Amino acid sequence: MAVLPIIKAPDPILKKRCAPVEEVNDEIRTLMDDMLETMYAAPGVGLAAPQVSVHKRVIVVDTSRGDTDRSPIRMANPEILDSSDDLAVYDEGCLSFPDQYAEVERPAKVSVRYLDYNNEVQEIEAEGLLSTCIQHEMDHLDGKLFVDHISMLKRNMILRKMSKLKKSGAVT
Ligand code: NI
Repeated sequence: MAVLPIIKAPDPILKKRCAPVEEVNDEIRTLMDDMLETMYAAPGVGLAAPQVSVHKRVIVVDTSRGDTDRSPIRMANPEILDSSDDLAVYDEGCLSFPDQYAEVERPAKVSVRYLDYNNEVQEIEAEGLLSTCIQHEMDHLDGKLFVDHISMLKRNMILRKMSKLKKSGAVT
């Protein structure tokens, strides 16, 4: 496994739509494992393939936040089957936006179908932080970032701050 460099916003790499995975083979399994290692090292609770410059529909999440009790979920081609009408608000962050947070409103519960590590179709129902996290990571696969859910004013503020940090070399 390897820790991969994480692309920081703003970057056109993060705005590109990702292609579906044909099957979860050894190459995709390696990508999933590397993404998990990268996410844990950051540390974070979710990571999407475009954040490590791979334009494939692959995400990893682990909202357990336990050092000893990890519960990683590796997903290829995730799709939302159903989402609740009731919404939940979380103060979201993103590994592509170090130290930037904003409140984002999303469906509180989602059911998701995906291909797992063994190329088998799985379905899960998620709520709470896991639901938010899966939706946030799935957005990345369509080039959508958490700041695209907030007001233009706030978005521009965060993006300006990120550009400055990148220019100064504080964020690479
Ligand atoms: Ni993110």
